[in-house]
Amino acid sequence: ATNRTFTMIKPDAFEAGNSGAILKMIEEAGFKIVAMKATKLTAELAGKFYEVHQERPFYKDLCAYMSSGPIFAAILEKDNAVEDFRKLIGATNPADAAEGTIRKIFAKSIEANAVHGSDSDENAAIEGNFFFNQAERVL
Ligand code: CMP
Repeated sequence: ATNRTFTMIKPDAFEAGNSGAILKMIEEAGFKIVAMKATKLTAELAGKFYEVHQERPFYKDLCAYMSSGPIFAAILEKDNAVEDFRKLIGATNPADAAEGTIRKIFAKSIEANAVHGSDSDENAAIEGNFFFNQAERVL
């Protein structure tokens, strides 16, 4: 079924000027961009977005990193969006990511890993709603 996922182009990829190349790969893989904006998270907002990770050892660094520079946030639509997008981006750690995946090509490290992708339909909706209200996305 056609459904949606949520993505961010993270500060490392934005700063490196890789946003256009990444969005091109996303569109060529069949995803439609149904919402998108450039924004910059505060440390507090990053903390809220990544709340589920608050007990993890990398949480503090992650929040500092995700608020260190501008990002693109976007909602993507495609058949089987969540699973297919995770395949397109590859493993969290670029060292483990398959050839040709976005993280293999663009990620700098396990933390500065170029892009985010939702891990479930439920989280895709929560994460999309964190950034976009109804007037800011294709209904
Ligand atoms: P993402 O999948 O967007 O969500 C959690 C983020 O935490 C992950 O990408 C990385 O940017 C970051 N991170 C840093 N260290 C780790 C780690 N050891 N395991 C998983 N995620 C990590």
